[in-house]
Amino acid sequence: ARITLRQLLDHAAENDYGVPAFNINNMEQALAIMAAADQTDAPVIIQASRGARAYAHDVMLKHMMDAVVEIYPHIPVCVHLDHGNAPQTCMSAIQAGFTSVMMDGSLEADGKTPASWDYNVGVTKTVTDMAHLGGISVEGELGVLGSLETGMGDKEDGHGAEGKLSQDQLLTDPEEAVKFVKETKVDALAIAMGTSHGAYKFTRQPDGEILAMNVIEEIHRRLPDTHLVMHGSSSVPQDLQDIINQYGGEMPQTWGVPVEEIQRGIKNGVRKVNIDTDNRMAITGQIRRVFAENPSEFDPRKYLKPARDAMQKLCIQRLEAFNTAGQA
Ligand code: G3H
Ligand code: 13P
Ligand code: ZN
Repeated sequence: ARITLRQLLDHAAENDYGVPAFNINNMEQALAIMAAADQTDAPVIIQASRGARAYAHDVMLKHMMDAVVEIYPHIPVCVHLDHGNAPQTCMSAIQAGFTSVMMDGSLEADGKTPASWDYNVGVTKTVTDMAHLGGISVEGELGVLGSLETGMGDKEDGHGAEGKLSQDQLLTDPEEAVKFVKETKVDALAIAMGTSHGAYKFTRQPDGEILAMNVIEEIHRRLPDTHLVMHGSSSVPQDLQDIINQYGGEMPQTWGVPVEEIQRGIKNGVRKVNIDTDNRMAITGQIRRVFAENPSEFDPRKYLKPARDAMQKLCIQRLEAFNTAGQA
């Protein structure tokens, strides 16, 4: 059944688990996520970005969502807009059947400039006012994602802050978070806590604490009814880097957020855990392998099926690690 983010994360909060939000762009990814949810008896969040909507078409996404709900009626599915950048984008997603939207007002409409307080509160409140009338959940974002290591905003995949950021932009201020939620009434809040988008999060193997656990803990303590969202939560596993590079890829060595660190985040109040990069890598590794091992192959199913299976495996690992498994 289709459910909202509010419904899903309220249950997660009551039962102390986290929910991965996996990005999709196509049927293979949607089916991989659902097969993983089915196999582990877990609820899921399927999210689509503006880029995904442009790639697949809203009508295709809408019917794909209807299809997965029909195929897996026993699995609670939240269909969420990832990184909406304007109220109109959120409204059109709602019209296309999304049960939850992110209004990311952390950057101005240009997608590069860290937003003013008034801009972020203004656009976010516009969305919550409208969405809540229709029972749709809203995620907002306060703070700017980027690397605490280098101070650079993450604009690797075409969106993110430009240039150097200060440490206090890179970590959400708990006091401001309280004020932001009071003014906007968001159901979920993405906070800056040491993660960044994409594959290149850390240049060294993280040792010990890499997330700002004190920030997570304090915001959670002050806002127990607002579900915290962690963007940039891919772990960038070494084995996936190795498969890609073994079969002709050229990904420089990099490190992501260790799964144990995400588990600690969940203990401290994180409920929605956004993962895209890991699945992209799982898919790419298998496609590269099939092409390298069998260069004469040209039936797309021959490489898309292993790709799907690899994504399904990764989704299962995360659903188990975050204790989402068994909660459907
Ligand atoms: O945060 C971004 C997600 O990984 C989606 O990326 O905008 O390239 O679809 P995208
Ligand atoms: P990753 O790039 O770490 O997978 O993060 C995805 C994300 O935050 C989508 O909103
Ligand atoms: Zn994100």
